[in-house]
Amino acid sequence: MNVLIVGGNGGIGRALIEHLLADERVERLDATWRASTPPKIDDPRVHWHQVDPGLESSVAELAAGLPPLHRVIVAGGLLHDAKHGPEKTIRRFDPDFFLDSLRANTLPALLLAKHLEPKLRHDQHSAFAVLSARVGSIGENHRGGWYSYRSSKAALNMALKTLAIEWRLRLPHCSVAALHPGTVDTALSAPFQSRVPEGKLFTPEYAAGKLLAVVDQLGPENSGQFWSWDGTELPW
Ligand SMILES: NC(=O)c1ccc[n+]([C@@H]2O[C@H](COP(=O)([O-])OP(=O)(O)OC[C@H]3O[C@@H](n4cnc5c(N)ncnc54)[C@H](OP(=O)(O)O)[C@@H]3O)[C@@H](O)[C@H]2O)c1
Repeated sequence: MNVLIVGGNGGIGRALIEHLLADERVERLDATWRASTPPKIDDPRVHWHQVDPGLESSVAELAAGLPPLHRVIVAGGLLHDAKHGPEKTIRRFDPDFFLDSLRANTLPALLLAKHLEPKLRHDQHSAFAVLSARVGSIGENHRGGWYSYRSSKAALNMALKTLAIEWRLRLPHCSVAALHPGTVDTALSAPFQSRVPEGKLFTPEYAAGKLLAVVDQLGPENSGQFWSWDGTELPW
């Protein structure tokens, strides 16, 4: 298998890489980072690329140099930055942060799908999976808040559902999936971990193993669905 991990320098992204390198089916692993320097990994199968996944020219340049792909997992994302946290109320809504959230959480999947389509079009099974978040589910939104994150993940989910419908004919061997990793102990969740019930904060290693097991179960018949880390389906 040839694999691409976008955001391989993040908490979950790094753990995905470690799991995949222990999988003897993996022949080559391309991984991207954007701003934070990636970890040194001593394995000749790994090829790092500095890519801004929210910038079309950067994604196009990456895609041009890649081999045919069997797994693409998009593991980057944004919940908070130095100046902004998730909005508790509409009074805290900042249009610039909203647009940054779309650029980080929604745009990469669309740009990658556009430019990687030729790499995923082959006769073997392939998967295009993107880390979304349960809070992006409209059906499960009972608590409100987090306008930018929720909206950008809901938009991501719609984009993936739409892509699955388009690719059903053109890329019949490719499964498209939105994935929820659970609450995982990374920089992204760090400010919000005090509210997590005991036993529900996963290590990145645990979450990565579960997510890869879900991706391994994907087939063309279940393309275009939203999966939780434990393999249960989530409502859009
Ligand atoms: N951790 C959780 O509890 C949790 C729960 C639900 C969903 N998720 C989702 O899982 C994914 C991975 O999160 P994580 O927990 O591994 O977070 P993390 O450790 O904070 O890693 C974030 C990743 O996103 C990249 N990134 C940050 N800002 C970005 C931007 N503006 N544009 C593009 N990429 C950006 C980072 O790389 P650079 O710094 O180099 O840009 C890094 O690769 C995200 O999509 C997140 O929404 C996480």
